[in-house]
Amino acid sequence: MKGTWKPRWVAESRQPTFMTHGAQDQVNFGVVKYLWGNVPAFDVIQLGQNEGANFKNPMNLLFAASGDLRNVVLSVANLPQSYRSSLSIVINDLEIDIVARNLIFLLIMLVEEDPNVAAESMLHVWYSALVTEPCYALLQKKLKPIVEDVCNKIAGKPYKTLLGKTWNFGCNSLRLVLTQEVWMKLPSYFEVPDGMTKVTACAVRQAVVNAPSRVDYFDRALLIRSPAMALGMIKYRNDGVLVPFGQNREAFLIPNPTFFQSSNEWPMMDSADPIDGWSIKAFLATKAGPAKKDVYGQLYHHLKRLFANFHRYLHSKPVSFELHHTDAQVLDKTLAGREFDRIEVSNICDSGYLGIDTTLKTFGPLLRSSSANPHATIITTFLNAVPEAKMMYQMISPSAADLVHKSDTKIALKYMESDLTAPAGTPAENLARVQTDSIKILCGVDLVSDMDKYFNLYMHQHDFAQAAISAGVKMKEKHSIIPPWPLRFKGSPNPTQKDKEDFKLLLGTAHVGHERYVEWKVETTSQRSKSLSKRLGSHFRQSSRARGLSVRKRNSQRDNYYKSFTTFSSIETIIMVLPPYKKDPANMRAKINVVLSATPTISLSDPAAELHINLTLSINSSTKEGQPITIMTDMGVFEVYDKEIGGVDIFAQGGFGNLRSTQDSSKDICLGLFRIPHKCLCHNQDLRELGFRFITIPGGGSTVTVTHKLNWERIFRYEKKRCKSDLIPGESFKIRILEKYFGTMWWCWGDLETDLKDKKLHVWRSGPFHEEKPDDDLVREGNWVLGEGGKYLDFQDVTEDGWASFEVVA
Ligand SMILES: C[S@@+](CC[C@H](N)C(=O)[O-])C[C@H]1O[C@@H](n2cnc3c(N)ncnc32)[C@H](O)[C@@H]1O
Repeated sequence: MKGTWKPRWVAESRQPTFMTHGAQDQVNFGVVKYLWGNVPAFDVIQLGQNEGANFKNPMNLLFAASGDLRNVVLSVANLPQSYRSSLSIVINDLEIDIVARNLIFLLIMLVEEDPNVAAESMLHVWYSALVTEPCYALLQKKLKPIVEDVCNKIAGKPYKTLLGKTWNFGCNSLRLVLTQEVWMKLPSYFEVPDGMTKVTACAVRQAVVNAPSRVDYFDRALLIRSPAMALGMIKYRNDGVLVPFGQNREAFLIPNPTFFQSSNEWPMMDSADPIDGWSIKAFLATKAGPAKKDVYGQLYHHLKRLFANFHRYLHSKPVSFELHHTDAQVLDKTLAGREFDRIEVSNICDSGYLGIDTTLKTFGPLLRSSSANPHATIITTFLNAVPEAKMMYQMISPSAADLVHKSDTKIALKYMESDLTAPAGTPAENLARVQTDSIKILCGVDLVSDMDKYFNLYMHQHDFAQAAISAGVKMKEKHSIIPPWPLRFKGSPNPTQKDKEDFKLLLGTAHVGHERYVEWKVETTSQRSKSLSKRLGSHFRQSSRARGLSVRKRNSQRDNYYKSFTTFSSIETIIMVLPPYKKDPANMRAKINVVLSATPTISLSDPAAELHINLTLSINSSTKEGQPITIMTDMGVFEVYDKEIGGVDIFAQGGFGNLRSTQDSSKDICLGLFRIPHKCLCHNQDLRELGFRFITIPGGGSTVTVTHKLNWERIFRYEKKRCKSDLIPGESFKIRILEKYFGTMWWCWGDLETDLKDKKLHVWRSGPFHEEKPDDDLVREGNWVLGEGGKYLDFQDVTEDGWASFEVVA
């Protein structure tokens, strides 16, 4: 690409769209599906550095949320020649497009005899939007009948029945387990939809990958890539065929049916790129054809070789594959009784998916014990942990985060300064250059963050230690499959030329270096009892301290929680954990009615206008007729934001979802998307001292109202696609309470003003609570009131239609 290339926002003298709404991060565009991996493949077996190259036992592997097949392919193809025992590989994904494509890749490998034809076909079905006639014939004539044969036999079975079929191919087998309904859908993945042509397929794809609204996002990606990479990227975006640069593409005439299931939708985000799923260093070391620095051509040759090796392995050694299409959370039941030597879970351990606790609880029991195989490992990937912890840090301590950002910028500049352009044009050109350079620097700053600090914070926040204990696993101190930070560049305060090149290479990819891998093994019984006694020790230290109950300043303990973000101080004891608001219908003490309402209008012309969201509570029925009830409001929909306490309000935590447009869902306003694990660290047991807040719901059917106030700034604080000036009078929105945050964690009988006025509200509550109940003497002498668990209070949303609405007025 020529050195004169300019991003279009510069050529057209305008602000880039990703900056006009104040958001510098790329928002997703297109369908959020991962038909191609977004982190480099890795070998999950690494036999040489684990069981040893001479290992002779059979191995069982589980890919629990496989995404594409790349880790399977790389792991098998990398096995040493000497390994001849049987391999059993279970591959699961929740997304049928992915399971169907993985099935097709495996069928290509197992049915097609010629390794080169198989490799070329698999590569194009995987990455090319169009395929050749021979490739389509392979899908249609050789593979589809295999699946159709099963479909014909099960056509009359009930839709939801799970049906498994095993095919044998020489020394290999392939088993597929699906519901009848999904089996019947499978043949369509081998067939171009009616009416779809090369022209329509290209138009459908172009509408996403070259969408006019996204040109600035694309140009920003080009800006930080090497010229060779950028050129390859443009070409691949335009024609969607993964072949070397100069190779004729005329034979690619047929829409790839595995992408075009619905004829009007390209099934991926515009940012998806084949490059992201493979080690850049590995394929850049591959010789390509005549074109110099043909990055996509190098990837093509690298993959063809790898796929051919995979084919050779399958045609010479026994492998049994098993494909499932289910939620990974149920695999402990689906696969109960089986044991695996490796379990790879992708990043479903991230908090937006299963989270670490559920992940370990689900897969711990499926991991082979350390005594049977000391190398048996679960591999978890965290792609969102560092950005999540960083965002939290920024929200909670903006000024400290600002200082960190400034210092990171200085570091990034050391690596980037020689690539930034010197002023040598007109003032207007120089201004544009400065702006473009600033965008490059902003992209570079993330690469130099202190990722260990953020990840440590994340581990504390999500209580990795407890998650491991509950699941009977242990974090491996020394990794033997993949390094903890395989992509992070290893810089130094005085970067060498090599450091600068590494930085540039990473900056020119979709990776940041914050991709974190954690390996786990089964904890032996003796290790387990040691860590349990460590935990119990801290519990008892905490309990005895509680009996002393020194009086501290109001809020000081609660502030500890927030300070842990700013100082990364180590966490001591967690005494309150917000459970989901589960109800116990058999043991309800009272039923509380809640009505949601909103101010009917909000004025565009009034900069100080506020939208009020009200929750009106009354006791509907109770086991203590006429008695008031006091509830803790923190951490649920009744928590009103308090500037002094700071943090993230309940709207941003998802208490009410988005403001939904009543006319057009693309006009919804996002109120934030932060998942905050609510754990409070404290040495004090007095909830009022800790700064928690309460309201009393009067007895006798009277009401109390909680009001949340959202001004214009707050309404649009986290919305990236729209801003206030996009609103037009007459637009209306609605909002509702979401179940997850509907309830209270602690409550008691009585009124704050009278019965509870001089009482101390003890953190202990009935129900599942892991601290021992304080004894009666202590409660009496200490003037304490103990709490009841939220599960015994039945909150009912009795809002008419379930929604509160309001209108935007001039
Ligand atoms: C977590 S996603 C993200 C992409 C991933 N980083 C990669 O490189 O493939 C990976 C895969 O997990 C699958 N997935 C997400 N949640 C799942 C669940 N609960 N059970 C099974 N698979 C799941 C998705 O369909 C996707 O194919």
